[in-house]
Amino acid sequence: MPLSQTHAIAILGTGSHVPERIVTNDDLAKLVNTSDEWIHTRTGIRERRLAGPGETTTSLALGAARAALADAQLEASAIDLLIVATCTPDLPMPATACLVQTALGLPATTACFDLNAACTGFVYALDTAWALLASGRYRHALIIGAEKMSSAIDWSDRTTCVLFGDGAGAAVLGPAPSGSGIVATKLGAIPGTSDLLLIPGGGSSPLAPGAPRHIQMKGKEVFKFAVRAMDEVCRDLLTPLGLAPQDVALVVPHQANLRIIHAIAEYLELPHDRFFANVDRYGNTSAASIPLALDEARRAGRLKRGDLILLVAFGAGLTCGGALVRW
Ligand code: UT7
Repeated sequence: MPLSQTHAIAILGTGSHVPERIVTNDDLAKLVNTSDEWIHTRTGIRERRLAGPGETTTSLALGAARAALADAQLEASAIDLLIVATCTPDLPMPATACLVQTALGLPATTACFDLNAACTGFVYALDTAWALLASGRYRHALIIGAEKMSSAIDWSDRTTCVLFGDGAGAAVLGPAPSGSGIVATKLGAIPGTSDLLLIPGGGSSPLAPGAPRHIQMKGKEVFKFAVRAMDEVCRDLLTPLGLAPQDVALVVPHQANLRIIHAIAEYLELPHDRFFANVDRYGNTSAASIPLALDEARRAGRLKRGDLILLVAFGAGLTCGGALVRW
């Protein structure tokens, strides 16, 4: 297929998988000096899922992948591109995508790689897969956002441990049924902001060996960036197409904090119910957050054929990105 020829690409199916273990705010209040009242008022979070013994980023990814394939009514063997967005891979190498490939029984001709854009990872994976499929070089992609954030948490730090959860979400992408498809994407990253949200240890930097292997965050600064960046991404996606926020049927934003979601709603002058939110039940699952929300929105009947859906995220980097999809 000539590279210049592009094809309409759509999300053909979604799936998600979370650990069974529910940890409430009251449970965390036994661990650190916090309360359900503080956590819920400041973040909207009531509970999160945390991986049990034997559960890994790969096992969560697999559950989501199988559900997405079933929803798309596609055999695993049809997948020729597999991208796992994660910042908590099982191992530094090989890529989690290769572990998922083996477990799913995908053929040796499948291109498999991980992508790390932290909480923006799924949107980065969607954009990457869209480009590769639209070029005609691959036909069906499985993109997964999967995280075991509990492995990167300092459980004595109340400023971060109450925010995150474990889980996975996935989507199958392929040739679009007529009228549907990915319309536009936008990715970005702000230079010089890496110290606002990071895991200092565990890498190959000379500073890394002694540094903590846990998330450190300047929450207030990240909050301000998140609202500004997500508002900008939404407008940058809509305005060039002559669209207004009101043309969007549902926004599926990164689930970090309900106050951030509501702030974007105010900026875009949209009612809160135009935003899908499940942060109350899962906390921030990083790259898994958008596909997990998208799958729940689909299963709740919130995605109607022909609707314009807007995905928008921010995360460590600091990165940001969005995608406009005709469902
Ligand atoms: O995917 C990207 C991930 N990151 C984010 O999305 C983070 C974005 N930022 C936020 O969501 C918010 O900034 C937080 C939820 C992290 C914090 O909310 P805040 O309203 O910005 O609170 P704050 O950091 O200004 O803290 C207010 C107070 C502080 O006490 P003092 O200094 O006023 O005495 C904190 O020590 O709340 C204290 N505090 C807590 N108290 C009870 C911080 N964490 C807790 C806690 N329980 N868990």
